[in-house]
Amino acid sequence: MTVRGRFITLEGIDGAGKSSHVSYIADRVREKGRHVVETREPGGTKAGEAVRAIVLHEAMDVRTEAFLMFGARTEHVVRVIEPALAAGDWIVCDRFTDSTFAYQCGGHSLPRAMFEALERAFEPAPKPDATFLFDLAPELAFERQRGQQRTPDRFEREQIDFFRRVREAYLERARNDPKRVHVVDASGPLDQVRANLERLLVPVLA
Ligand SMILES: Nc1ncnc2c1ncn2[C@@H]1O[C@H](COP(=O)(O)OP(=O)(O)O)[C@@H](O)[C@H]1O
Ligand SMILES: [Mg+2]
Repeated sequence: MTVRGRFITLEGIDGAGKSSHVSYIADRVREKGRHVVETREPGGTKAGEAVRAIVLHEAMDVRTEAFLMFGARTEHVVRVIEPALAAGDWIVCDRFTDSTFAYQCGGHSLPRAMFEALERAFEPAPKPDATFLFDLAPELAFERQRGQQRTPDRFEREQIDFFRRVREAYLERARNDPKRVHVVDASGPLDQVRANLERLLVPVLA
């Protein structure tokens, strides 16, 4: 029987450094001789990427945004994540369910019970085996992003206070599930953050 793969997610506010470390984690898993699927949310499927383009750039009610995200996740889980895990692959995913609780619930104050009910009502999304939460102050994250050439998307233009709430919601999730959520201090230079990540990654790869 094929041994089920493992599911690793990266979380953190915009500009925290998630995308900068996805390939590193995937490479470290490959070194272990595992097949890796690198993916992201919202996205990961054709429908999911279409949703991504809409939610990142069109203004909409936060509930609309929440349900679109949820729909995109369902596609992602059913078409990509579950089949890959069942086939024994490892998944490295840039954002997952914790983002919903951090942004839609923490940031936008939507009731958590709504998403918990949705999760129960549908086929439950798999719980990540390990989540790396890249943590830093929103002010610093903004500074880093200002160095980027690309046009800021709708989320990135939102206010510092919003990201403070998102950060707090993330940290609360980490406190409530410390075995799964590993908090990576992302405030230092890239090589230092990577060293912090590596320390936390070693036991996950064992
Ligand atoms: N530790 C770091 N120090 C300085 N700049 C960083 C660091 N980590 C990432 N960056 C830069 O900050 C920006 C945001 O990083 P990114 O990985 O895209 O964040 P996220 O995917 O979490 O939004 C990028 O321009 C990236 O090169
Ligand atoms: Mg990113």
